[in-house]
Amino acid sequence: MGFISVLVCIIVVSFSFSPSYGFDPMDPQANITIKWDLLLSTGSSDTVKVTILNFQKYRHIEAPGWKLGWDWKGKEAISAIFGAEATQQGDCSRFKGQELPHCCDKHPVIIDLLPGAPYNTQFQNCCKGGVLSSMTQDTSKYGASFQISTIGSTASNYSDFVMVENFTLGLPGYTCGQPFEVRPTKIPVDGGRRWTQVLRTWNAVCGYSSFLSSPSPKCCVSMSAFYDSRIVDCPQCSCACQGQPGSKCVQMKETPPLLQQKHDPNEEPPPLVRCTDHMCPIQIHWHVKESYRQYWRVKMTIRNWNIIKNYSQWNMVVLHPNLKNITTVFSFSYASLNDFRTTNDSGMFWGIKYYNDMLLQSGNGGNVQSEMLLAKEPGFSFGGGWAFPRRIMFNGDECVMPQPDDYPRLPNASPLPFVYPFPLSLVFSTFLFLLFFC
Ligand SMILES: *[C@@H]1O[C@H](CO)[C@@H](O)[C@H](O)[C@H]1NC(C)=O
Ligand SMILES: *[C@@H]1O[C@H](CO)[C@@H](O)[C@H](O)[C@H]1NC(C)=O
Ligand SMILES: *[C@@H]1O[C@H](CO)[C@@H](O)[C@H](O)[C@H]1NC(C)=O
Ligand SMILES: *[C@@H]1O[C@H](CO)[C@@H](O)[C@H](O)[C@H]1NC(C)=O
Ligand SMILES: *[C@@H]1O[C@H](CO)[C@@H](O)[C@H](O)[C@H]1NC(C)=O
Ligand SMILES: *[C@@H]1O[C@H](CO)[C@@H](O)[C@H](O)[C@H]1NC(C)=O
Repeated sequence: MGFISVLVCIIVVSFSFSPSYGFDPMDPQANITIKWDLLLSTGSSDTVKVTILNFQKYRHIEAPGWKLGWDWKGKEAISAIFGAEATQQGDCSRFKGQELPHCCDKHPVIIDLLPGAPYNTQFQNCCKGGVLSSMTQDTSKYGASFQISTIGSTASNYSDFVMVENFTLGLPGYTCGQPFEVRPTKIPVDGGRRWTQVLRTWNAVCGYSSFLSSPSPKCCVSMSAFYDSRIVDCPQCSCACQGQPGSKCVQMKETPPLLQQKHDPNEEPPPLVRCTDHMCPIQIHWHVKESYRQYWRVKMTIRNWNIIKNYSQWNMVVLHPNLKNITTVFSFSYASLNDFRTTNDSGMFWGIKYYNDMLLQSGNGGNVQSEMLLAKEPGFSFGGGWAFPRRIMFNGDECVMPQPDDYPRLPNASPLPFVYPFPLSLVFSTFLFLLFFC
């Protein structure tokens, strides 16, 4: 094995086994922050405001939503709660009094109230069924908060408050660090002329890893172009292989018996896909549709092969060097994602509200599409597969791309001279690579 391949193996290994807070160069600060504001502390009773903030540019929290849990260090219990509720009351037999506490579990699990919850149970920013939008898609809906009152603490004043630990979000792929104390949150009153502050504040930061969320990919990319009659399908077995143990699929015209069985609405059901060669729940098709003198046109289609899920508030991140010259996007919303990049080559697409922001389950429509116009730079050429995206992510998870050798090509063109950038974070290709070359 030559020096170069050893070097490449080392690079690939170090990239694919990076820490579980998957570092994302397009959104390096991505995190969900849990904020714990101690508002009042009177003897054995405390009042706390808990806020969950989704500081991610393109990953949102879908129904059934977050389920926030933590461990009490002492014998605390939640006596009252506004804007959320605990899933279990737990064993409250140690408490005497007229009314038992709301939740006595050592590890309470709190869920958001549904929209339209009774007014006297609400709290500011609550009641979205646990759904949080990404920061790019809706800047008004990326946070949620609720307020709890506790009893049973041994602290006699706020400086003795015993902070909880081991936060969990109940969302696949997320892990939280331990809370750390920060400067107390300040709250504007009187239109910002006066500021009050809470007694003490802690933050806990949670990160996402697509590998922890699911070791196999969840989407794949297929391609075609006006200058090549072939359609380049998603690579075979992109997400799973038909007939592989543990993989299930439903033939095209068949109605699955599972559909009649109801799944628990509080749990996300595992995907149940139509039988395809790629077996992915999501397929993104990139079609280079037309070339004009100064512009070129791409048609993007997102197809849902999952028969038991509608993807609400879906989004797609694309990396292509020509996105800096994007001129028109016809029926998706678009924002460039370049706060952390100097090359202006990445952007995010998502559905237009009430029009195509819901990607319906297979058999129920099951696709959304749009076209875009990009301005040609001087010396523009379709050669070398240049018109195809370098990376695509759907809902924040990397999609499997065809091999560069298979890309549509110009008539009479030889195989690609294109030197590929480094999107090898794909677990699949990494493992194949390691298997064959290391
Ligand atoms: C979490 O995200 C916020 C907002 O982008 C950022 O200010 C903060 O530094 C991030 N925290 C970490 C630990 O990355
Ligand atoms: C937090 O989690 C650790 C590891 O699971 C456990 O040892 C510890 O007891 C937990 N803390 C509390 C307060 O339960
Ligand atoms: C809080 O209570 C502890 C003893 O329980 C005492 O030592 C400390 O001075 C008190 N702090 C304040 C700010 O009252
Ligand atoms: C998806 O949406 C369609 C149309 O709104 C609805 O009929 C169907 O029940 C939904 N499916 C799921 C799994 O929620
Ligand atoms: C990227 O976009 C920003 C703002 O849209 C612009 O100021 C900057 O010059 C662009 N950089 C490149 C390399 O095109
Ligand atoms: C493409 O974008 C770059 C950077 O924003 C700009 O310098 C260049 O003039 C644009 N080219 C065209 C053809 O619009």
